[in-house]
Amino acid sequence: MAPIGLGAMPMSWPDMVEQRDRALDTITAALDAGCRHIDTSNAYAPDRHSVGHNEALVAEALRAWSGDAGDVVVATKGGLVNTDAVPDRDGSAAGLRRACEASLIALDTDRIDLYYLHRADPTHPFVAQVEHLEALRADGLIGAIGLSNISVEQLDAAMRVAPISAVQNEYSPRFREGAEVLTATADAGIAFLPWSPFGGGDQANELGSRYAPFAEVAGEHGVSVYQVCLAWLLDLGEHVIPIPGSTRRRTIEDSLAAWSLELTDEQRAALDATEPEGTSQYPDDMEVGPIR
Ligand SMILES: NC(=O)c1ccc[n+]([C@@H]2O[C@H](COP(=O)([O-])OP(=O)(O)OC[C@H]3O[C@@H](n4cnc5c(N)ncnc54)[C@H](OP(=O)(O)O)[C@@H]3O)[C@@H](O)[C@H]2O)c1
Repeated sequence: MAPIGLGAMPMSWPDMVEQRDRALDTITAALDAGCRHIDTSNAYAPDRHSVGHNEALVAEALRAWSGDAGDVVVATKGGLVNTDAVPDRDGSAAGLRRACEASLIALDTDRIDLYYLHRADPTHPFVAQVEHLEALRADGLIGAIGLSNISVEQLDAAMRVAPISAVQNEYSPRFREGAEVLTATADAGIAFLPWSPFGGGDQANELGSRYAPFAEVAGEHGVSVYQVCLAWLLDLGEHVIPIPGSTRRRTIEDSLAAWSLELTDEQRAALDATEPEGTSQYPDDMEVGPIR
């Protein structure tokens, strides 16, 4: 099984709405190539009226796939209503349960394998939001709890009230603020899923030009700069599962091939030495409310 997932988010950008067949083909190609983890969210939708768009795509592809869909971990998220809605968070018990129930329908399942708090709602204590997810788990609606966009302090507090299986924070050559959480998850035996591993959909094509050592190492191996980036991320720890976004068969097949790419110590050191650009793609979204 490839320790690389598929980030399904870009398949719900407005320009993909008319390209449903291409999106379904991308998911199928990922599964056929050995990908067994798909990352989605109720909020991945072309507009606020299409909440669940991305989840429904994933469900449709899995229903049509010839393999065993039961082997595939589908992770989705709640708590972020939709990026263009105001207010855009709802971490209340009722709001998270409503979101989870809608995701169960969109994903066409009785139980969500992995359910994340997408972004904490700063108007509610963070720990209470984790307890709401634990209630969903106790009721059998979700199999495991994930947290996204959190700090080490939030992780510590969360682990005291519920079993946490995965953390998803931004981490890429551009943004490495997640390094402390990456270490904390390794220590706690929790999976770490770096999101936007190439710096995000609108920047991914600049990876090689912005980070010359990544392009140089790619040249040495005769592979794409994207494979080098994913191999670099995988080397951060056995608990790391990158989730590159993709909207075409060619790109996800290329990304999944990074699994077999071995970097030398010298190459890894050159990649580590590149300078990140900043702390976050979405600094305004990282507002942290009370923890307890
Ligand atoms: N938890 C959160 O708050 C959060 C936030 C953002 C993202 N995410 C998750 O993280 C996932 C990945 O992030 P992202 O989609 O924003 O950005 P990304 O993975 O950094 O970049 C995605 C872009 O990279 C291109 N690409 C991927 N593999 C490639 C390859 N091998 N060769 C050439 N181009 C390649 C894709 O192009 P094509 O479109 O041409 O295939 C796509 O447009 C999302 O899909 C989502 O699941 C989570």
